[in-house]
Amino acid sequence: MSRISISYLTKYGNNKTAMEQLSTFLKAKGHEVILFDVDETGPEQVPLSDIYVFSSSTHIGGLPGKMNKFMKKFPHKSGRYALSVTHMLEKGGPEKNSGKVLYAMEEDLREVGMTKAVDPLSLTVNGMKGPLEDGWQNKVETFAVAILKLLG
Ligand SMILES: Cc1cc2nc3c(=O)[nH]c(=O)nc-3n(C[C@H](O)[C@H](O)[C@H](O)COP(=O)(O)O)c2cc1C
Repeated sequence: MSRISISYLTKYGNNKTAMEQLSTFLKAKGHEVILFDVDETGPEQVPLSDIYVFSSSTHIGGLPGKMNKFMKKFPHKSGRYALSVTHMLEKGGPEKNSGKVLYAMEEDLREVGMTKAVDPLSLTVNGMKGPLEDGWQNKVETFAVAILKLLG
């Protein structure tokens, strides 16, 4: 059994919903999963884990300051990580702003000394408050399978 810690930032609940679904998939395979709401948790509260998942929304074309702070102070310096991001559909394509968020998250964690373990999950929300795009559960499941493969 592996331990997976998932830290998410959410304003309207979409990141929470997606990460709870991820937790359900991983727990069903017998792993220990702990969820952390970044609004209520300091990074030092996240225990040593086999993989760390970070999930964030896109704010003003980039990574919300709160998530940035949380990640910069993350204590598990040699940990493996997986990223997830939510964003709206925009003229420049969905990758425009969510790509910036993922890049900023990767930069933060590279500075911490952590290693990317799987390809990121990117979910579109329908409007500012969501809901998540149709078929989001399938995307989360694919993400879960990639994490499970890594854990062996
Ligand atoms: C202040 C603010 C700025 C936002 N700016 C963007 C943006 O630049 N690009 C984008 O795709 N979504 C933007 N959004 C929408 C968020 O992507 C959306 O609210 C979020 O993904 C929903 O996830 P959550 O319910 O977990 O917070 C913004 C939302 C807020 C509240």
